Amino acid sequence: MPTVVYVKPDGTRQEVHLESGTTVMQGAVDNMVEGILGDCGGCCSCATCHVYVDEAWVDKVGKPDDVERDMLEFVINPKETSRLSCQIVVSDELDGLVVHLPESQY
Ligand code: FES
Repeated sequence: MPTVVYVKPDGTRQEVHLESGTTVMQGAVDNMVEGILGDCGGCCSCATCHVYVDEAWVDKVGKPDDVERDMLEFVINPKETSRLSCQIVVSDELDGLVVHLPESQY
């Protein structure tokens, strides 16, 4: 089971084991990771699941598609590494993925 590491703005890390095929957003909601709300249920229309992908994982996670890129314009403090976590599907290839939670979501 792949592990995703959620890092809060204060540096606190929460490691969660997730089934392949679930999303980083759903994994956070199911495991009560603060800072990710997922208000729209994952249909890429709320941007309350914004995360910063750790630099070491950016290439593996890949780029947002056009719909996600449009939604990312609504987040506070977007960065090059910004992604909507409902659009990141967990897989064995992403085992150990580290995402940082934005200060603005606390
Ligand atoms: Fe709404 Fe990701 S959960 S955009």
